[in-house]
Amino acid sequence: MEVLIRENKADAMAMAARIIATWVRRKPDCVLGLATGNTMTEVYRELVQLHQSGVDFSRVRSFNLDEYVGLPPHHPASYHFFMEKHLFQHVRFARSYLPDGMASDPHAHCAQYEEWIRSEGGIDLQLLGIGEDGHIAFNEPTSSLASRTRLKTLTPVTKSTNAREFPEGETIPSQVLTMGVGTIMEARHCLLLAFGLKKAAAVKAMVEGPVSAMCPASALQYHNRCTLLLDEEAASGLSMREYFKAAESGKPEWQQKLLVDL
Ligand code: GLP
Repeated sequence: MEVLIRENKADAMAMAARIIATWVRRKPDCVLGLATGNTMTEVYRELVQLHQSGVDFSRVRSFNLDEYVGLPPHHPASYHFFMEKHLFQHVRFARSYLPDGMASDPHAHCAQYEEWIRSEGGIDLQLLGIGEDGHIAFNEPTSSLASRTRLKTLTPVTKSTNAREFPEGETIPSQVLTMGVGTIMEARHCLLLAFGLKKAAAVKAMVEGPVSAMCPASALQYHNRCTLLLDEEAASGLSMREYFKAAESGKPEWQQKLLVDL
């Protein structure tokens, strides 16, 4: 794993934007894997700025990671709504795919979603956040590390954490559609962002813990191109923290440039 630690969130966001922009400039019709959650709202703000400063997304295709079952696209807590609000309303993509939480046959829809990813040539750059319990997308602890897009039941922990996204008095769905860990692992480059002390334990388990279904993000240890962008707080549990910093700053300039020049 390539672990990049930044003093603060703003510096990490600027780096994320450089990595995304490099992909889009180098491969104007690239396929981006998109995520949701608080962490991503700032990434999307950066993408909107990139778009305004002339980076062309018009040939880029995108796939979202997950969606709540039973929420129509106009529901304010749906991930469709989130994506419209934070990104799609501002930046036009060639095509954007999101799992459909209203699909009448979720199993067939998930198989179809996998097929769409394949037919678009696979995901080039997958953006990821991480749950406090180590989930990526909605792959909860004990998810198979080989899993594909499927129907999944949320844990009580995730339900209570994500309840803040729902209007007061409304219950959060128990079921979701999510890309699997195996699906995510096929992306050519994974870029995971984590900020704040609340993520420190999950980050430690992902980077330094054993690879285990109890921390689905730890599967990324097997990914051959995975970049983690952390702030000091999210990195604070890592025993290898100083090593990661020294490894990055000790690189000659041409090699540092490689970080963003793909
Ligand atoms: C949700 C999403 C995940 C995301 C996680 C963390 O559960 N399904 O993809 O990584 O939230 O979100 P946040 O960035 O708000 O901490």
